[in-house]
Amino acid sequence: MRVLVTGGAGYIGTHTVVELLGQGHEVAIIDNFDNGSPVALDRVRELTNGPMEVHEADVRDTGRITRIAQDFRPDAVIHFAGLKAVGESTQKPVEYYDVNVAGSLSLLRAMEASDCGRIIFSSTATVYGEPEYLPYDEAHPIRPISPYAHSKVMVEQVLNDWAAASDGRAALNLRYFNPVGAHPSGRIGEDPNGVPNNLMPFLAQVATGARDRLRVFGEDYDTRDGTGIRDYIHVVDLARAHVAALDRAAATSGAEVYNIGTGQGYSVREMHAAFSRVVGRDLPIEIVARRAGDVAEMSADCSLARERMGWQARLGLDDMVESVWNWQSANPHGYRGSDAE
Ligand code: UFG
Repeated sequence: MRVLVTGGAGYIGTHTVVELLGQGHEVAIIDNFDNGSPVALDRVRELTNGPMEVHEADVRDTGRITRIAQDFRPDAVIHFAGLKAVGESTQKPVEYYDVNVAGSLSLLRAMEASDCGRIIFSSTATVYGEPEYLPYDEAHPIRPISPYAHSKVMVEQVLNDWAAASDGRAALNLRYFNPVGAHPSGRIGEDPNGVPNNLMPFLAQVATGARDRLRVFGEDYDTRDGTGIRDYIHVVDLARAHVAALDRAAATSGAEVYNIGTGQGYSVREMHAAFSRVVGRDLPIEIVARRAGDVAEMSADCSLARERMGWQARLGLDDMVESVWNWQSANPHGYRGSDAE
């Protein structure tokens, strides 16, 4: 298929493009390089030799992306481009709604102008909010708390209505749990700007010495060891979920939603222990207060994705932590200061 990928230079985008090209798809990428790197795409080219065109453009620039879509004529779009920091979204709500919601509307206009009727959308497990029961299934009530989560719920709603408005359209909303890990080559991985918000990139920087210790946000949760539990999913498994979703979108119509996780939760202490094992020393930690907005535990029921898309996660905790360390130790400064930069 011809697949237009927005945000294709980012963490999940690059891993997905590698899988798409590996499966024989043709790819056109749109990215404004706000949180993605051209070096990452050079590395993608080095890992695969499939057809890939790259356009530096903002998804909100409807005229520009319409021309790109009309030239490329995609069979489907995978829409990653967006802002994703929960905390930052409470400081900059207008920016979050603009990029995430207005950006998606702009993309749909470009799709309509190029007769593309299939979209796979990056949604998030954060749409569920405080759990009423676990694991979350797709029927769990939606209770977004942050502007970030609200923006994703809004786009899911827009896509539901868009898919219903015309025969033959398909919109798949993929609700990601906690993506971690890196490509086994160690050439692409997560490269956050500034101080990492998320556990794994933070731990990786403690391991390289860039940060002195991990601050564990609370050990008084009602969990097996008092620290927060999350459903971490290897980014390569997540990338493959998008390839499976493309086939599903070609075989169905209307809007669908899928949880994308493993079904297995790990605590902060368990992640710290696993990472320390891989690095070969006990990484320093400090227990601090809870972080506002965190829930005690999240985990996914992913049976729907298995049944309908034939996809399930295959990579486990060791693959996750080993691949992060493989990437981070080979690229201690991420893409900065490497290759062309
Ligand atoms: N944590 C720490 N110290 C840190 C960072 C995180 O103790 O420095 C803890 C958190 O309190 C939480 C766990 O590690 O218990 C995971 O935190 P992350 O920040 O890595 O991930 P979140 O679950 O908070 O959120 C992530 C993404 C969201 C996405 C969500 C979906 O950041 O965008 O997963 O579940 F919506």
